[in-house]
Amino acid sequence: MLRCDIITIFPEFFREAFDYGIIRKARAAGLVETKAHDLRGWTNDKHHIVDDRPFGGGEGMVLKAEPIFAAVQELTGCPTRESYPLETRVILLSPQGRVFTQEVAQDIAKHASQVVLICGRYEGVDERVSEGLATDEISIGDYVLSGGEPAALVVIDALVRLLPGALGNESSATFESFSQALLDHPHYTRPTEVAGLGVPEVLLTGNHAEIARWRRDAALRKTQRNRPDLLK
Ligand SMILES: C[S@@+](CC[C@H](N)C(=O)[O-])C[C@H]1O[C@@H](n2cnc3c(N)ncnc32)[C@H](O)[C@@H]1O
Repeated sequence: MLRCDIITIFPEFFREAFDYGIIRKARAAGLVETKAHDLRGWTNDKHHIVDDRPFGGGEGMVLKAEPIFAAVQELTGCPTRESYPLETRVILLSPQGRVFTQEVAQDIAKHASQVVLICGRYEGVDERVSEGLATDEISIGDYVLSGGEPAALVVIDALVRLLPGALGNESSATFESFSQALLDHPHYTRPTEVAGLGVPEVLLTGNHAEIARWRRDAALRKTQRNRPDLLK
């Protein structure tokens, strides 16, 4: 069972997010538990303030470190980063993090039993969360989002489909894009002609050896065309 705790100032963002498809089934099967927590629940002041102006001046607001430290301590049951068990990953979503890849997802899905995801907003999060609280700082790509919530969804989705039993067909995750340093091969379904476009003849022959060879070649061609960096 993988437990995913999301720390956010917009817990409503996740209201229905996990109610579809593979994640819904994985939740129903008890493979994953997801919970979005309102960061304001860990403030002590009357107005539940979670942000403040940056030291040194400048534009925008910064999410304060203290409520995030309190939230992570309560959710993990650990008073310091040094006391997290190996199966606990505390992930700060940030465009400055290392890029989230299938390899990173596989590593987390294989070892973690609890993942705490910290969603930033505004100008970001007080740097001491990165320095003293997070085990991982993860970016979902080289672009800037308004908040960490969409990134948390991306990370959880990628993790859940790697959990044993989450996909109906266990081989699906093994042969997907990136799992073997290649993109997936192209897929076609009925009808055999759409908008003047046909289907590669070999896929209609029922010859499994030929089909497997075509798929391997097609995956290679597609990787060469769209992601030559993967072949290096
Ligand atoms: C507007 S961004 C802050 C950007 C920050 N000032 C910078 O330039 O690096 C607000 C929050 O969105 C989230 N975020 C933005 N882009 C992201 C990305 N590529 N991957 C993961 N999280 C991201 C982070 O949680 C971040 O704290």
